[in-house]
Amino acid sequence: MRKTIAILGSTGSIGKNALDVVRQYPDRFKVAGLAAGNNLALLKDQIAEFAPKLVSLADPARAAELAQALPAGCRTRIVSGPTGIEQVATLDSVSQVLSAVVGAAGLLPTYAAIRAGKDIALANKETLVMAGELIMAAAARHSVTIQPVDSEHSAIAQGLDAGRRQDVSRLVLTASGGPFFRRVDKDLATVTPAEALAHPNWSMGKKISIDSATLMNKGLEVIEAHHLFSIPVAQIEVLIHPQSIVHSLVEYRDGAMIAHLGIPDMKIPIAYALSFPERLELNLPRLNLADAANLEFLAPDHQRFPALLLACAACRRGGTLPAILNGANEVAVEAFLAGSISFPAITAIVAETLRRSERREAQELAAILSADAEARKLAKALVESGFGH
Ligand SMILES: NC(=O)c1ccc[n+]([C@@H]2O[C@H](COP(=O)([O-])OP(=O)(O)OC[C@H]3O[C@@H](n4cnc5c(N)ncnc54)[C@H](OP(=O)(O)O)[C@@H]3O)[C@@H](O)[C@H]2O)c1
Repeated sequence: MRKTIAILGSTGSIGKNALDVVRQYPDRFKVAGLAAGNNLALLKDQIAEFAPKLVSLADPARAAELAQALPAGCRTRIVSGPTGIEQVATLDSVSQVLSAVVGAAGLLPTYAAIRAGKDIALANKETLVMAGELIMAAAARHSVTIQPVDSEHSAIAQGLDAGRRQDVSRLVLTASGGPFFRRVDKDLATVTPAEALAHPNWSMGKKISIDSATLMNKGLEVIEAHHLFSIPVAQIEVLIHPQSIVHSLVEYRDGAMIAHLGIPDMKIPIAYALSFPERLELNLPRLNLADAANLEFLAPDHQRFPALLLACAACRRGGTLPAILNGANEVAVEAFLAGSISFPAITAIVAETLRRSERREAQELAAILSADAEARKLAKALVESGFGH
């Protein structure tokens, strides 16, 4: 039977990869809803190919333009704004929602989808970073499954299938280290956005590419793993693995470590999240272990890349601190991409925003959203004041 899905962030790196999987398996998946930010041209093509029932664009003016541009007889309805994406996320016919918008914009539609009883394939890690307790509680209340799309979390979920939860001693998240980990001679203050965007192994959206270069991405992933697998941060270790072949590991109490290996291609965890528990054959090269003979694992360099420890500390202290970390990071990454601040200033601004913010409980959505807004305001003021230069 065909599974009916909605894709939030269909024009992004994850969204396009997911549609590649759908394209290969039209007998398995039907796309009923798509949502994106601004990329009208690509959405138009996606509508022509997948004929979704409902499509949302963030900007109402762009949505009106898209509606105008559709051919006569096209039955796709166009909506817009925060209510539009929520309509897509809660479409009656949809049973699973791929949450792949970038950043905090993913939180509300993902939460709406869960409350409407939709299973989630989760790429938008910011949802769990900001509101992990709230989201996991809502998923349990609505009997919704959250399948991770992040390759590390997909690897861990599969490693956890090898044993009992009470026998797990720790999770090991691997990180490529980004483009600068090996370049110890590189003065990070001189890094340009183009250099930081050039990820050695993965082809991804801009925000996650910068987060990978600062190691904030791994910090966000520690928080995501903490909530997703209900495990204390102290039992989550990060290792730099420059080859990106071992996607993560689970260690059990007897010392056995279950690793997940594969080529670095997001179609593998995306397809698994969409087809779970079945595995689909994908048109991808296989990992040749003889070619990948040198697999290295190194400790992170916290001195040069302090973002990871910052995120772990925010997670340990909990409450609204992870949402504050996330909001400040989004502002700082955007400022770096715009050429307004230096690469090291990204993490410095996040640290300073956390230092100036108050921790509040994060049981209510309102408290989380207000912490996010406050953090953005503080971080923007720091950017404008030239902090961290
Ligand atoms: N890329 C990866 O390999 C990867 C791996 C693991 C996890 N993730 C996670 O997956 C998420 C998406 O990453 P990505 O790399 O695919 O990002 P991306 O390429 O930048 O794509 C982001 C998507 O979100 C849409 N979007 C942005 N703001 C929006 C808004 N306000 N309302 C609706 N849609 C909006 C964009 O639309 P427009 O382009 O039309 O503006 C685009 O479709 C992130 O949370 C990331 O951490 C990504």
